[in-house]
Amino acid sequence: MTIDDTVTGVDLCEVTVIVNGQLRRARTEVRTLLSDFLRHDLGLTGTHVGCEHGACGACTVLVDGTAVRACLMLAVQVDGGEVTTVEGITPDEGLSPLQDAMWAEHGLQCGFCTPGILCSVEGAARAGENVGERLDDLLGGHICRCTGYQNVRAAVRLYCAGGQEAGR
Ligand code: FES
Ligand code: FES
Repeated sequence: MTIDDTVTGVDLCEVTVIVNGQLRRARTEVRTLLSDFLRHDLGLTGTHVGCEHGACGACTVLVDGTAVRACLMLAVQVDGGEVTTVEGITPDEGLSPLQDAMWAEHGLQCGFCTPGILCSVEGAARAGENVGERLDDLLGGHICRCTGYQNVRAAVRLYCAGGQEAGR
């Protein structure tokens, strides 16, 4: 990370980070939140922002494999690290098994909370955790304003059962 304040009088940092498997580099203010960095500096608008103080879970992304609130981190904190957003857990074509289960069970309405939920569940699955056993913990960190919890829970259960073919 390098800091340069000669142009605007504002401290600008160069942040270098692997995002969704690609090396990305951008200059941003020292105070920039990771959520704003992803959306505004890198154009990854799949990450949503709800409360901006760590309560709703909408901004959840994976940092070095761990689910974090991107509104509670500064972009400079991920310099040299690795970030995965909802774009990164989405195949080039079609849907991931988890996304497919969300679609099958109508697990989203406005979809505002969905990217964060997907990142939390996907992160736990990639870490080898038993997502089914941790369902309450994983979803407890996410607020869905559309009260879609029952369908989200059904979707994650379907995903844990092996997807549409195995779960029905
Ligand atoms: S926007 Fe980050 S937790 Fe709500
Ligand atoms: S689907 Fe709208 S906030 Fe969850």
